[in-house]
Amino acid sequence: MAISMSSVDLFDEAYALDPFPVWDALRETAPVHYEPDTGLWLVSRYDDVRAVLLDTDTFLPDNAMDAIGRFSVQTLRVLARAKFALPPTLASNGGESHAGYRRIMTRLLNAQAVTAAVPMVEQVVGECLDQVGERLDTDGVCDLATTLAQDVPLRVLLRLIGLERQANDVGIDNLARWSDASLELFWGRPDAGRQRALACEAADFYSWLRELVTRPGPQEDTLLGALAAHRLPGGEPLGVAETAAVLYFMIIAGQATTRQMLSIMYRRALAEPGLWQRFADEPGSAQPWTEEVLRREPPITTWRRVTGRPVTLRGVDIPAGAPLLLMLASTGSDPEMFENPEQLCPYRPNPRKHLAFGVGRHRCSGAELARMEAGVMMRMTASRLPGLRLADTSSPPEMLGLLSFRAPLHVLVERG
Ligand code: HEM
Repeated sequence: MAISMSSVDLFDEAYALDPFPVWDALRETAPVHYEPDTGLWLVSRYDDVRAVLLDTDTFLPDNAMDAIGRFSVQTLRVLARAKFALPPTLASNGGESHAGYRRIMTRLLNAQAVTAAVPMVEQVVGECLDQVGERLDTDGVCDLATTLAQDVPLRVLLRLIGLERQANDVGIDNLARWSDASLELFWGRPDAGRQRALACEAADFYSWLRELVTRPGPQEDTLLGALAAHRLPGGEPLGVAETAAVLYFMIIAGQATTRQMLSIMYRRALAEPGLWQRFADEPGSAQPWTEEVLRREPPITTWRRVTGRPVTLRGVDIPAGAPLLLMLASTGSDPEMFENPEQLCPYRPNPRKHLAFGVGRHRCSGAELARMEAGVMMRMTASRLPGLRLADTSSPPEMLGLLSFRAPLHVLVERG
């Protein structure tokens, strides 16, 4: 594939629609590539990305939550008024306090907790499917991306972290909008006006969280309760900023990514002949297929690290303090790791070896929850809505195309 590497535009609409040729070309011709427009070093081969993720002494997570663009003075003022601050807690924390925060996540999201949550997830999916059915009956079409795929992960997460009642005060649509605005503010390239508008949404979100953190009330068995009881390595409790930062990260990471994954899955499943019926007939058949979608088309396409010292990666010298863009999505199509990578083949020998959830010390704490939700959603949607089909196959889908997040924005369906 002849692609000029000087022309890689990571924010281009065409790239968001079909990034596979760019990923192939990067891996083949420039597996470690400096991109002058963003100042990022793109790393695209499976072995290299995995090695970087596992070497947390050399490649630090400190820049994981940095905004990709510069904030204007107006944007900074909006954020400052809300006391917006994201001190390192989870994804961007390379320090000694990380392990303690991570233990809280593990208690909340371990395999046993995820299994115990299945009946609750089934109940939420059932309720949301009732609404989809009603909408199909009245309107003839329904957008699964903005209904089912959005509402289920958000409602499930709020229940798991014990914030369902509090979230009702602001409404889950508002929460979803705040979360989307935050993703675009940090991982997009908005112009000045849009950046300020997005900052207002993120500031409203953060102000609500700060208010929740300081609100008196029973917190036992909730994430807020666990954070209130937590002590940092020096023995001190968490401040308001640390607690708000964990909630901010969790409410975004714990549902937006799952929604994006589900939107990708619905589009693909409904386009593949016979698959929908199989999900209904063979419970469990969606599980290995989910791994294949996560490998080939993960919702988190890239993740960042920064070099802690000068390094040489695949013969390329990289200075200290250089931001790396790990092309997680490209690694799932690396033919050195996955045979015939373009084919979704649930029975390949290494289906869970993909890097969609990262690997090592910062590997996604919510991986098992996301997998479980995907399985339940595909099985129940296919059983309750047999014959469902895509209603908008004529034009290419409108895509969310941020630096690290990619998914169809809409999945319009109708009854067959
Ligand atoms: C399909 C859905 C998801 C994908 C693709 C995904 C992917 C990722 C990735 C790539 C990372 C960074 C890994 C690294 O730095 O090495 C991450 C971190 C994280 N994710 Fe997820 N995630 C998903 C869903 C979730 C869910 C549902 C939750 C929680 C309910 C969650 C919680 C977290 C947390 C807490 C971290 C930070 C872990 C740490 O730094 O110790 N994620 N995720």
